[in-house]
Amino acid sequence: MSGRLFITFEGTDGSGKSTQIRLLEKALISGGFDPVVTREPGGTRIGELIRSIILDTGNTEISDVAEMMLYAASRAQHVDEVIRPNLEAGRIVISDRFVDSSIAYQGGARGLGNAVQEVNAYAVRDCVPDLTFFLLSDPVKLFERIERKDADRIEAEGLEVQRAARAAYEKIAAEDRGRVVVIDASRPANEIHAEIAALVGANLKKQGGANERGDERGGAGNAEGAAHE
Ligand code: TYD
Repeated sequence: MSGRLFITFEGTDGSGKSTQIRLLEKALISGGFDPVVTREPGGTRIGELIRSIILDTGNTEISDVAEMMLYAASRAQHVDEVIRPNLEAGRIVISDRFVDSSIAYQGGARGLGNAVQEVNAYAVRDCVPDLTFFLLSDPVKLFERIERKDADRIEAEGLEVQRAARAAYEKIAAEDRGRVVVIDASRPANEIHAEIAALVGANLKKQGGANERGDERGGAGNAEGAAHE
C-alpha cells in the first residue's frame, strides 16, 4: 500500500509554518511513516543557489519578472529532483511553500497576475499538492522578525507586501476549498498541530495508505494518534 501524499504549507511570514512542519514530521515518523521534508525556494543544490540570489537583501535591483522566474526555476528543479521521485516512490512529501507562494507574493503583492500561473504550470506540470495548509496570522508579527534583524529581502520590504500576500492567499483558499485548509495561526501551536495531524491522518486513511518503512506499524490513523501523544 502507498502513503503517497503531497502536502504543502503556506503562509505569510512569521506565521509559525516551520514549527508546524516539524511537529507534523515528528508525528508522521512516530506513526511509522518516512516523510520527506523540503522547502522553497531551495530544496535542491541548484534551488539553494537560486534562493541565495532571491533572498539576498543586497539584490534590490531584481526585476519583478526575474524574481518570479527565479522562484519558478527553483521550483522546476525541486519538482524534478525531489518532489516527483519521492511521490513516485510512495512517500509523503511535505514542502514548506510551493506554487501558492508565487501566486500570493509575485501574483498578488507584485501584481503579476496570471503570468505567474502560466509560468508555474509549466514549471510543475501535473505535480499539484493533495493538501495545503494556509497558516494566516496578523502581518504585524513580521516586525518582530525584522527587529531580530534576520529579515530576508521580501520580509524587509514591509507590511504592505505581507498584507497583499495574505489577501491573495484568501482568494486562492476560497477558489480551491477541496485542497486548501485555512488555519488561524494565532492559536496555540499544539492546537494547530492537532487539527493538521487529524486532517493528514484522515487523508491517509482515505487512501488506505500505510507506506512506511516496510513494517506493519504504519496505520493510516497513526499520524493523528501520534499528534496527541
Ligand atoms: P521562507 O523561506 O519560507 O521564509 P519564511 O520562513 O520567513 O516564511 O520564504 C522566503 C521568502 O520568499 C518569503 O518572504 C516568501 C517568499 N516567496 C515568494 O515571494 N515567492 C515564492 O514562490 C516563494 C516560495 C517564497
